[in-house]
Amino acid sequence: MALDRRAFVTGLGVATAAGLLARPALASVPKAFDFDMAPPVDKGEAFVTWMVENRGEDADFLAKRWARFQVLVANRDVVNDANKRAFLMTPRERFVTRANLPRAYDNAFLDIGFGVTISGPHLVGRMTTNIDVSKGFRVLEIGTGSGYQSAYLSHLTDQVYTIEIIKKLAERTRAVYDGLIGEGYTEFKAINTRNADGYYGWEEAAPFDRIIVTCGIDHIPPPLLQQLKPGGIMVIPVGPPGAQHVLKVVKQQNPDGTFTVARSDIYNGRIVPFVPFTKLEGDVIKGTHNGA
Ligand SMILES: C[S@@+](CC[C@H](N)C(=O)[O-])C[C@H]1O[C@@H](n2cnc3c(N)ncnc32)[C@H](O)[C@@H]1O
Repeated sequence: MALDRRAFVTGLGVATAAGLLARPALASVPKAFDFDMAPPVDKGEAFVTWMVENRGEDADFLAKRWARFQVLVANRDVVNDANKRAFLMTPRERFVTRANLPRAYDNAFLDIGFGVTISGPHLVGRMTTNIDVSKGFRVLEIGTGSGYQSAYLSHLTDQVYTIEIIKKLAERTRAVYDGLIGEGYTEFKAINTRNADGYYGWEEAAPFDRIIVTCGIDHIPPPLLQQLKPGGIMVIPVGPPGAQHVLKVVKQQNPDGTFTVARSDIYNGRIVPFVPFTKLEGDVIKGTHNGA
């Protein structure tokens, strides 16, 4: 694995292998992303060869990504070509901590510091598949975390907005994106980041075609529903602490101008625990938005 000049997430911040902060990365991605680009999806060897040639990535991680992809497809966590490509094009190993590099493609959420996690690859695949994103859609994510989810989204659309409540984590992830953009992952330029309480959405960038919430809450935040376009889709983990159901919420406008909200459970009733949807009071994170 090539470590030189590559930024890895560490518990202390973004550091290069040399331990220097904010060192400009050298471009190492041979071919910039475009929406017509697609790696082979029928043979692992062809996929790895194509990715090494076009994206300059590490063959060992690519083999693990391919193996995880096979299980995602078998589970129907990703079902369409766009999501298959998005999963295969997103270097998950660049969003996990150094300690977790060997587990980057495990079927598991992983600690990323600050008491929060990067969601597991199956969950990311299933949630994103359920919002059915096309190029040109404006997508809002609540809970940037490691940055992996929004990186995945940037292979589906050129307009991604993501909010993280933990300031130091938001800064760290912004630096990860900047480092990767410097290496030639130009698709991550589509990702707009903000440090704020995502309960209130991103008014200036609204309305959104799609919203994806990656922290758990006991209700759907009214500002998020309000910032979702008519016909828009949101996925959000709703339920008591540690026992959410991942809901797909479709906002429909009736002929009389009123709105109907249709909900379905993307795991057919299975409980999926998420980190809490916390609350900002002034500059301090205090409690959660549950019960609001
Ligand atoms: C499961 S984790 C992150 C998963 C993330 N999407 C990824 O790809 O790594 C959920 C994130 O939501 C963040 N979060 C919790 N409450 C929030 C809020 N009110 N506004 C924005 N982010 C919030 C947490 O700090 C955490 O980083």
